[in-house]
Amino acid sequence: MNLGRELVGLERFEPVLDALPGPAYLVGGTVRDLLLGTPPRFDFDLAVVGDAPAFAEELARRLTGRTTTHGRFGTATVHYADGAHVDVATARTETYSAGGALPDVAPATSIEEDLARRDFTVNAIAVSLPDGDVVDPHQGIEHLRDRLVRVLHERSFVDDPTRIFRAARYETRLGFRMDPKTETLALISVPDVARLSGARVREELYAIFGEADPEAALARLRALGVDDALGVEFGPPGLQPRLRELSARYRLSEPLWHLGLLSIRAPAGRLDEWKVSRRIAESVEAAHREEPLLRERVTAARTPADVVRAVEETGPDTPLYTLAVADLPALEPYFDRLRDVRLELDGDDLAALGLGESPRVGEVLEELRRRKLNGELTSRADELAAARELIAE
Ligand code: CTP
Repeated sequence: MNLGRELVGLERFEPVLDALPGPAYLVGGTVRDLLLGTPPRFDFDLAVVGDAPAFAEELARRLTGRTTTHGRFGTATVHYADGAHVDVATARTETYSAGGALPDVAPATSIEEDLARRDFTVNAIAVSLPDGDVVDPHQGIEHLRDRLVRVLHERSFVDDPTRIFRAARYETRLGFRMDPKTETLALISVPDVARLSGARVREELYAIFGEADPEAALARLRALGVDDALGVEFGPPGLQPRLRELSARYRLSEPLWHLGLLSIRAPAGRLDEWKVSRRIAESVEAAHREEPLLRERVTAARTPADVVRAVEETGPDTPLYTLAVADLPALEPYFDRLRDVRLELDGDDLAALGLGESPRVGEVLEELRRRKLNGELTSRADELAAARELIAE
């Protein structure tokens, strides 16, 4: 099989084809997506048998681009045109001295050796450049046709238990299924996910949260027992779409990984182990803890100012999380308009009215805000009149 024509059709990739300083291979998800006929994301991974950073330097020179090299084994990124880039890696072999740990890496002497270290047959296909010939030593094309996620060898999940997360992600994104043997091997290795470093677990979960349907992938992981192995709970169903919908509706622009974290019930300290930033971890944990109380207080609130006070006594994620899990129309005005209510007056205005610096300034401003939230003050003149009255008291 030859993908020459498809490659030339990739507008952003064409300049690279013309500028290659030597033989290279296109590898990874882009090859899979090209063969599936789905538009590849602009994520071009090249493998070269040899010195990738030197290859990248020369490619960048020919493209009048620039390179950044990574600490990781023989990898570099070539940036060219506006925002376009390709990653160039030295073809390598990987051996695992301990399951779940990072592999020992050595240069490969052929692209086939490099493909043999990869996760699934559908991801172990290379395209030789610039001619476009497909290298498919593990029947990846056949498995694409049969919609199968299949490991290359029996120890694949033992070597790298993150592949269990990856399998669930590809299954749901591509509408594939693990073949029975792969699924059995995955099930055997599920307990091993507990030995992964927290940061690796976090990266896999974040990749899932970035998918169009993260809950389908999490449901699959739950069916395999991954949630139990991690000691967390995924769900409840419908929560992530609801969080996404509310975040978009109210223009909260929370990243998908953040919304995803809100959907996971984890014991105290687990987010720390996953190296989630302290600020986000605290906010997510607070949302889970405070939700019942906020729900109760908002339900009991008699005025808009009561709703705002209840919200302001919680962490930053609690109102969104509460609205996502509870049918709570009384909380909607908070997002619709109350959170944007600001007084026109400030401390300087009160000083001009004769109220010097003192705790009373804060009290008057708070009372004015309460009245404004409740619709009693609608203009600057209203605020001034109310301020005069309060100061005179
Ligand atoms: N890979 C692997 N084992 C892993 C991670 C990655 O074998 N644990 C290999 C696979 O060949 C994969 C390639 O590295 O195709 C690139 O990895 P990544 O960028 O994570 O995945 P993509 O296949 O490009 O998938 P996606 O479409 O999700 O980006």
